[in-house]
Amino acid sequence: MKGIILAGGTGSRLFPLTLVASKQLQPVYDKPMVYYPLTTLIENGIREICLISTPHDLPRYRQLLGDGTAWGLAIEYREQPRPEGIAQALLIAESFIGESPVTLILGDNLFYGGTEFRQAFAEFQAGALIFGCHVHDPERYGVVEFGADGRAKSIEEKPKKPRSNYAVPGLYLYDNQVVGITQGLKPSQRGELEITDVNIAYLRRGQLRVARLSRGFAWLDAGTSSSLHEASAFVQTIEKRQGIKVGCPEEAAFLRGFLSLDQLATLTSRMPNCEYRDYLAGVVAEARALSKGG
Ligand code: G1P
Repeated sequence: MKGIILAGGTGSRLFPLTLVASKQLQPVYDKPMVYYPLTTLIENGIREICLISTPHDLPRYRQLLGDGTAWGLAIEYREQPRPEGIAQALLIAESFIGESPVTLILGDNLFYGGTEFRQAFAEFQAGALIFGCHVHDPERYGVVEFGADGRAKSIEEKPKKPRSNYAVPGLYLYDNQVVGITQGLKPSQRGELEITDVNIAYLRRGQLRVARLSRGFAWLDAGTSSSLHEASAFVQTIEKRQGIKVGCPEEAAFLRGFLSLDQLATLTSRMPNCEYRDYLAGVVAEARALSKGG
């Protein structure tokens, strides 16, 4: 499975923060926003990644993430010249996707906890797999309605009268039919290729599965000033209380076996003196102690 991170858009809702730096580069507590979706991909075993952003912002992402080899990844970059919809990412990345299944994650979505993703990635074989998460303001999102059999009955993009409280978060798993399906889409009234229309196409083919996220799962988006602040507060609370980091790609790459312990130690030693380095040094020390003890 390959992964696409979409970090496009103008970030107009975060103006003036986004005058000089793209939305997904803004800090969520102690690290850039894009670290969180990137970590989600790594945690689920994805190492071939394509990051899509505007021509203006792409150089900054390259500066931040490079070609990914330092983290045991292969990262490619593609441009989305205009914000013409989430689904457009699947067309922009067509040559990257090739014959592979693909997961698409939005650069401003932050996920924490639960085992649903791990299970979903492990079990995925064909069709499309998306998620449903209970929220209090479903009208801001794609909304999924479930039938009595627990299967998805309808999906609507930002409905005025939502048929349920289950919003569709920005993580989607597709088989290779997705490129053809997206090529057949027409732009919506807001002039975008809608990811919801891709999901509706799979629903009509009887090939869409929607997994409900449990209460132990946190999904935050960070697209407005207050949601950005809330996401930061959430991350700070978890990190302070538990002494772990949320959205730490280096640690995730190590835990997933993309980096050896020695590689992680070297990477850490090259960081400037800071709290992030101290944390990773702690991860290295703990892993060394464990390997000696075992
Ligand atoms: C987009 C999708 C929507 C999805 C949401 C998740 O909304 O169109 O279906 O629920 O991301 O963050 P937008 O970012 O365009 O508001």
